[in-house]
Amino acid sequence: MALILKTDIERGDSWYRAFRTLMPELELREWDQPGNPEDIEYALIWAPPRGALRRFPNLRAIFSIGAGIDHLASDPDLPPGVPVVRMVEPGLTAGMSEFVVMSVLYHHRFMIEYAQQQRAHVWREIEQIPARRRRVGIMGLGVLGGDAADKLCGFGFDVAGWSRSAKTRPGVTSFHGPGGLVPFLNRTDILVCLLPLTAQTEDILNAETLAALPRGAAVISVGRGRQVVEEDLLAALDSDHLSGATLDVFRTEPLPPDSPFWDHPKVVVTPHIASMTIAETAAEAVVENIRRIEAGQPPLHVVDLARGY
Ligand code: NAP
Ligand code: GLV
Repeated sequence: MALILKTDIERGDSWYRAFRTLMPELELREWDQPGNPEDIEYALIWAPPRGALRRFPNLRAIFSIGAGIDHLASDPDLPPGVPVVRMVEPGLTAGMSEFVVMSVLYHHRFMIEYAQQQRAHVWREIEQIPARRRRVGIMGLGVLGGDAADKLCGFGFDVAGWSRSAKTRPGVTSFHGPGGLVPFLNRTDILVCLLPLTAQTEDILNAETLAALPRGAAVISVGRGRQVVEEDLLAALDSDHLSGATLDVFRTEPLPPDSPFWDHPKVVVTPHIASMTIAETAAEAVVENIRRIEAGQPPLHVVDLARGY
């Protein structure tokens, strides 16, 4: 039983260590040295070249190293009939909730304004707003958005979520579907975008949707860069319709050196690190699914490629 691994060199060793402990009978092969392609039954990958997975005729499952599967869904030549499994693992979820909570608190506590004041040597208090009066809205109330919503509720924020289907999550007001989007945006002071990238969510944060946010709102973009029309976001920041933005994902990554976001006084830039898959805990999720498949059961968290997530 062999698994082909395509990951960055820095993180390769931690996967080897984790699988050796959890499933010693699983042979790990490196992407560039697959050996006999017929041996490969599983793939654990990030952004393979288009069509490259077709060279493994006995593949039984494709595991995405990340939660997002847009790097696979964009390949028109995936091997047909092989389930694609997204990454659901506690390390990734916890990391995203940490980042979202940190960023919401940053905007809630006027840190964009205080950072500007510090640069200008200005000592001025801004009146604090209680969390219960701050309306946080999370686009995408799935595994990651749902956990972040629960953690924000713990701080007392007035939390709502927007998803495709209606949700009943204690303490979280649910909006759903295209009809729910504008009412959701109208009541959102701090917007968190945690949607998967699909044909429906591409460019979803644009001049029109940003205008539906109340004046002074902040945007935290942690889903995918192509969900944001960057010129529209810049215009909304420069016109002071938005008070600030935390941007972790961009249309072009790495963010080009001449991007206006780097030096924008109202923007926090991070290099797509809001959360990372942790090999130690993620290998447990992969091994659980391999055991299921070997026992003739369907794997957990299979994506619907037609739906895009
Ligand atoms: P998930 O569990 O599949 O949740 C996706 C959520 O988005 C669901 O609530 C879904 O609604 C909603 N949704 C999808 N399409 C929609 C649409 N057209 N309209 C309204 N709602 C829609 O995914 P996840 O595990 O939470 O991950 C979300 C995304 O986070 C990933 O796809 C990835 O792009 C991003 N991510 C970023 C980082 C980073 O470091 N920046 C790290 C990890 C993940 P339903 O519940 O009704 O289906
Ligand atoms: C990271 O962006 C992921 O999708 O896990």
